[in-house]
Amino acid sequence: MTINFYKSANKIIYLQLLLVIMPATLFAQGKLKQLYKDPNVPIQIRVKDLLSKMTIEEKAGQLNQLNSGDLTGPGLNATSQQEKLIMLKAGKIGSFLNTIGASTTRSVQKIAVEQSRLGIPLLFGYDVIHGYKTLFPIPLAEACSWDLDQVTENSKVAAKEAAVSGLHWTFAPMCDISTDPRWGRVMEGAGEDPYYASLLASARVKGFQGKLESEYNVLATVKHFAAYGAVEGGRDYNNVDVSRSKLWNTYLPPYEAAVKAGAATVMNSFNVLDGIPASGNKFLLTEVLKNKWGFKGFVVSDWNSFGEMIPHGFAADYKDVALKALKAGSMMDMESKSVINHLPQLIKEGKLNIAQVDDAVGRILYYKFKLGLFENPYRFSDEQREKDNLLTPAHRKVARIAGTKSIVLLKNSDQLLPLASKDKKIALVGFYANSKADMVDMWKGTSDYNTYVTVYDGLKAQYKDLTFADGYNSKNETSEKLIAEAVNNASAADVVIVNIGISGKVSGEDKSLADINIPAGQIALLKALHQTGKPIIALVTAGRPLVLTQVLPYTNAVLYCWLLGTETGNSVADVVKGLYNPTAKTVMSFPYAVGQVPVYYNHFNTGRPAPDPGGDSFYSRYLDIPNQPLFPFGYGLSYTTFNYRNLSLDLPLLNSGQVQNVSVTVKNTGKYDGEEIVQLYINDITASIVRPVKELKAYKKIGLKAGEEKTITFQLGAKDLSFFDDKGNVILEKGKFKIFVGGNSRDVLETTFELK
Ligand code: GLC
Repeated sequence: MTINFYKSANKIIYLQLLLVIMPATLFAQGKLKQLYKDPNVPIQIRVKDLLSKMTIEEKAGQLNQLNSGDLTGPGLNATSQQEKLIMLKAGKIGSFLNTIGASTTRSVQKIAVEQSRLGIPLLFGYDVIHGYKTLFPIPLAEACSWDLDQVTENSKVAAKEAAVSGLHWTFAPMCDISTDPRWGRVMEGAGEDPYYASLLASARVKGFQGKLESEYNVLATVKHFAAYGAVEGGRDYNNVDVSRSKLWNTYLPPYEAAVKAGAATVMNSFNVLDGIPASGNKFLLTEVLKNKWGFKGFVVSDWNSFGEMIPHGFAADYKDVALKALKAGSMMDMESKSVINHLPQLIKEGKLNIAQVDDAVGRILYYKFKLGLFENPYRFSDEQREKDNLLTPAHRKVARIAGTKSIVLLKNSDQLLPLASKDKKIALVGFYANSKADMVDMWKGTSDYNTYVTVYDGLKAQYKDLTFADGYNSKNETSEKLIAEAVNNASAADVVIVNIGISGKVSGEDKSLADINIPAGQIALLKALHQTGKPIIALVTAGRPLVLTQVLPYTNAVLYCWLLGTETGNSVADVVKGLYNPTAKTVMSFPYAVGQVPVYYNHFNTGRPAPDPGGDSFYSRYLDIPNQPLFPFGYGLSYTTFNYRNLSLDLPLLNSGQVQNVSVTVKNTGKYDGEEIVQLYINDITASIVRPVKELKAYKKIGLKAGEEKTITFQLGAKDLSFFDDKGNVILEKGKFKIFVGGNSRDVLETTFELK
């Protein structure tokens, strides 16, 4: 790739002249002392001018972020309110997290702006993971929609509600690839595939930030950098140890995509990489993030992740922490206070280069200027606008639609669903169907329980004759009495809908589970209900894939509803009733058993792949379960059916500069109009490092009326056929490729071509 050096050289010269001429001119006009306050001056110049006026303590202040609200981490070395006030007035705090609300942020901002020497405004950050006041489906559920416009719309609404509440910054999107449903944080991500997770990350950044021009946009955060989703055993904060080629090919792409989408900030992860904590990892922060990807925003630590370099065994004390974090390329320090307490001394001792500090502080100041906070520090803190823009009917509508697009139909024997008639006698069973507290995860934002629509609320609104029984209690225990009541209702009904799963309370950070089976009490209830002979629809609610192996024999239909947020019940009822024909496809494999984890579609073949059908012995398998997951990546049914045929390529022999057109005909062979997510995978059969048996490289969500068929064409180019070597170089190798197209990663048509 040739860079037009002459043009870019020109640009550099121009900017340098500007940096010299502008100040000189303004100096002559006696305006220099207020240069940084002049909105007509380019931001880079304002930053430079402000930096020239700051003391080292004030620079350390810009790198200091403190919690000033609910705890979202261990409250080990919390700072008292009194101490915060003193630090604020001394310009020693640059940002707060968990300070929310137009009124509160305005009053805190006022102190920083009016009572400190330079009046540098604060940034207020918060975890708007899937909504602020209107709660959307968890990101993992939202990802199952394969609808990027919907994802962007959801993020836009979340950003708007956050921004009108005084917030400038959300700590999202989480871009951590994970293949381990024991890890509670899978709910925050986009599943197991790097290609699709990259598209999701970009869509979320676009929704949160827009062009960062209006009062309805917020800074996005690419987190957690990097590979936090690879924690061993699915145990949060545990060790991560991945090969460089796995890092480049699987874990880094979504972070890169979010950075390239213009994300303003990146957050360190808690884990080590190559034995070095991410917060002190120069390879990640400088070589990859800044030098290779050209990241121009700023890095913020995770909660005390600087300080955790001590228990990691990488730093001796907080002064060493500050030195190692900043030298590696970290910048803003969330909650450890290592930087504010030790940076000035480190500079005095010559251990840290002031230019590196100025670069970090300058990046933060850039966004404070960009957000217009120097012109109007209270721009986001308007109480009337806050009142007018939270949990509006329009926002609820977006959440309801997003929910319907996230529900995955896993089973539908004899076309039991949809229950189109409102006169159906329904026995709804399941404590969770009527429990607002269990509907949402820890990242519920500021949403209120009393605004949630439960499954019970939603179904009751759509069906006239509906009974309800708990069937099990808040601890997932059942009893003869609870079962008897449920069975009694079931016997009198036409159909049973049973809400099973686990509470949203065990979803999110620090929510790892060793057992991801459906609770035994619920299985006992299912067996009893099955005895009635009534058709049973299972609605499964959880923030992760659960093991459903024991559920399938006792149910006729299964809808995986994840955690859908404020409009849960309405989204579920719209799908159950057939007002929305399910389109969602899972973005995480569903394990056959927890012992199968990690199980994912884009695995290597191994030297002894399991023959299909199974051979006799000496191949990679379990003796007690199949190798395949219960439900594979990309799987999800519709109320209609689709048939795939005529997979064809236009170039059986492809030159590296050419585009391969891949066509397939898809027909809606059922009786409902529907949408199908047509997926295209490749396999690089022989390469210098082994490649996955399948890699998603394209998809199209197409609408087909009952009986209608369409031929769709994908374009594959060199970029789609390349991979990274362990240095992060893009490699394209000649040889044979398999192409797969289908409605999931397992049931596919296959063909091959050769790259010459
Ligand atoms: C938490 C999470 C991170 C979050 C931060 C601030 O520990 O790891 O995702 O953004 O702290 O709440």
